[in-house]
Formats: sequence, structure tokens, C-alpha cells
Amino acid sequence: MTQYIIHGGRELFGKVTVSGAKNAAVAIIPAALLVDGVCRIENVPEISDVTLLFSILEELGAKVRLLNRQTVEIDCRSICSTQPPYELTHRIRASYYLLGALLGRFGEASVSMPGGCDFGVRPIDLHEKGFTAMGADVVTEGGFIRATVETKRLHGANIYMDQVSVGATMNIMMAAALADGVTTIDNAAKEPHIVDLANFLNSMGADIKGAGTDTIKIRGVEQLKGGTYCIIPDQIEAGTYMAAVAATGGQVLIQNVIPKHMDCISSKLVEMGVHITEEDDTLLVRRSDPLLPTSVKTLPYPGFPTDMQPQIAVVLSLADGVSRVTEGVWDNRFKYVAELQRMGADIKVDGKTAAITGVAQLTGAPIHACDLRAGAALVIAGLAAQGETQLDQVQYIERGYENMVGKLRALGANIEVVDIPDQIEPEKHIV
Ligand code: UD1
Repeated sequence: MTQYIIHGGRELFGKVTVSGAKNAAVAIIPAALLVDGVCRIENVPEISDVTLLFSILEELGAKVRLLNRQTVEIDCRSICSTQPPYELTHRIRASYYLLGALLGRFGEASVSMPGGCDFGVRPIDLHEKGFTAMGADVVTEGGFIRATVETKRLHGANIYMDQVSVGATMNIMMAAALADGVTTIDNAAKEPHIVDLANFLNSMGADIKGAGTDTIKIRGVEQLKGGTYCIIPDQIEAGTYMAAVAATGGQVLIQNVIPKHMDCISSKLVEMGVHITEEDDTLLVRRSDPLLPTSVKTLPYPGFPTDMQPQIAVVLSLADGVSRVTEGVWDNRFKYVAELQRMGADIKVDGKTAAITGVAQLTGAPIHACDLRAGAALVIAGLAAQGETQLDQVQYIERGYENMVGKLRALGANIEVVDIPDQIEPEKHIV
């Protein structure tokens, strides 16, 4: 088992370069299944979720060739199966995108239900509703979702999202790209990775308009050809490093960001007394004064992202006063609070709201990462704390952050990776 050992209390200084967006990559890689040609994808983050998706595509008959650490060529001209293996798909939430992509191209797909969840019930009824409206027969049996279209080609449909869903918006967009006719998604999600997926598909020959607004129109085309596409920088990774500087103090230049994507996060940090200077594709983040308390509510984009909620809670646990953090997307995303309390944080959770009374200092402790973003937040807590923090179950962090330890060490953090003798294998969680 791998642990991070962090000796906290050091300010961060220097430059960090943000990698490609995880939540764009985990959609764009399955979307390559729609393409009857070779997709060259650049700025792919080197994370374990991506490696797993490459393996899944290879099992389906795709040829996956890494040109360098961030560039991959995926050739889906000879796909031989529409049933990705359970052993791989149940380990990753984003495997649901295989449904939309395989169904859209081949008129059939059979994919295991995305497994257990960390922050409440995670239904996929909206994905299914969309596929059904486009003419698919969708059944769930034996832990698998099987979707088929008799005619082998979906048809366009008008689909209203009862709830804003990132996954359902992307999945329906994929399924509709090769459908017969026009599909309209109303009340669509607007996250940067929605736009990135639409841009990827369009660069392969799709006809998608309106991504980034409430209404997306997809005019189905006969075929998608190959092409080259570069994934956007990761909004949440950038936000995580911004939160780290806010918590520890110091000054860091965050490189390879789209500042517009960061507004929802930057504005909260500024309220807390953090100085942020924006340039073309960089943000200079500086914090030297005491942190101020504030209120944060997570919402779909352009609201404050739920995937930054644990990280901002850590920063607020060091602010001078009482803050409130309200989770507006998931039912149960405060599991990490128990770990922070072990480090001396004063946080009371009542339903979907956490009241955080800032403390002068956190102290290092043995703690567990319980999911990807919670893990990142606990790293930040360890960096800001006095003394030694031993963080385990770091495999969650490595699913979504490229070389987090190396990037933090380059900023002056005292963090190291150690292998300790295997204990009981931690339960697999899905993020
Ligand atoms: C994605 C992200 C996740 C992020 C979330 C919200 C990936 C792989 N994961 O998850 O990190 O926290 O967006 O930004 O990109 N819902 C339904 N029915 C559905 C689908 C969703 O009721 O069929 C509900 C969910 O329970 C939740 C809300 O809609 O309350 C938003 O979920 P959604 O945006 O779909 O999240 P994911 O795509 O699973």
C-alpha cells in the first residue's frame, strides 16, 4: 500500500503546470469509439482512470498508441465487441460513456452499472431516458445495462433534463452524434468539459451547436472521420493548487489554465483574502494575510464546482471566523470531514451544510483519502498542518491528478511517497 507522508507548515512558491482535464479526457477517450478513423488526442492527463480507459478500448478491439506521455492515437476502425469487460468497467464511473458511444456507432451496448459511490446515490436514469427517447430499448439485468436499437441507428429526439447532469448531457451528445436526425438537449449541463467534448466531436466531423448553453442541438451525421484534438486544461486541478496556496500561504504561478473557467473558484478565494492576478493562460496566486470566512454553495457550472468543495472546506477551516459550505449537487459529500476533525478542524455537518469555525492551526495525523477530491483536500490539509501527516488510500488521488506529489515538491512542499507492507486491501470506490 502506498502512503503520502507530508511534513506541513511550509509556504508554497514557484510555478506549476496544469495537466489536461480529467473529466474531459474520460469522456473524449470513449467518444473515440464513435470515430471510424484515427483520433490523435493531445494534452491527455497521465492518470490511472485514463490508463484504465485505454485498456477497455483495447479489449473492444481499438488500437491505442501512446506517441508520448500526453499524446495518444486511438484507432477504432476495427471494433470487435460492444461488451466491455466487467472487471475493468466497474472500477470507473466514466464507463457509462461507453454506453452512449457504442450505442451511437453500433446500435448496441452492454456495460456494467457504474459501481458503488462515495457521495450519495448516483443514478443514471437521465442517461437511460435520453437513449430511450432516441429509440433504444434499455434494460438493466444482472448488474448490466443493455441498450439496443432494432434498426441499428438511433433517431433524433427532444430531450429535457429533469436535473442538470454532466454525465447524461455528454452521453446523449455522443449517442446523438451519429443518429438519424436532430437531437435537442434542454436544461443541458454547461461545464467546460461539455464544450470540450462537443469540440472534439465537431473536429471529427460531428454537427453540434450550443454546447456551453442550456440548449444543445446535435444534427446526426453519417460518419465521424479521424482528426487531431487537444484537451483543455483541468479546471479542478488548477483550483486544487490555488486552494493549496491559499491554505499554506506563499505565491505560485499556475500555468496552462483558461482563466474564464476559473472565475467561479477565483472569486471565492478573493473573498477570502487571496490575491489573484490573471494573464493569458496563467494565474498568479498569492496569500500572505489571514484568511477571511465566507459562504460557498456548490452548483452546476458556472456555479462553484462540487469537485472543489472538499478543497475549499480545508481552506475555510483555517479562516478567521465561521464559514458555511452547502453541497448543492450530491447528497453526501462530507465524508472527509471526519478526517479533517482528526487534524483539529472545527466542522459541524448538518445535512447538506457544513458550519466551519476556523482554527489557528491544523495538526498532522494519520488519515485516509475516501475519494479523489477528498484525497486532494487532505493533501492540502497536510501541507498546511503542523507536524507529520500520513495519508493512505492515495490510489484515489492518482486516478485524477497527474504527478501531484512531484508538482507539489517542485513548489517546496515536503511530501514523499512511501510503500508500506500491504494491509487489508481498501474497498474500491468510484469517483
Ligand atoms: C460528473 C463528474 C463528477 C462531478 C459531477 C458534477 C465525471 C466522471 N464525474 O459526475 O466528478 O462531481 O459531474 O459536476 O465527469 N443525476 C440524476 N440522474 C442521472 C444523472 C445524474 O438524478 O441520470 C443527479 C445526480 O444524482 C446528481 C446530479 O444529477 O445529484 C449531478 O450529477 P451528474 O452531473 O450527472 O454527475 P456525474 O456525471 O456522475
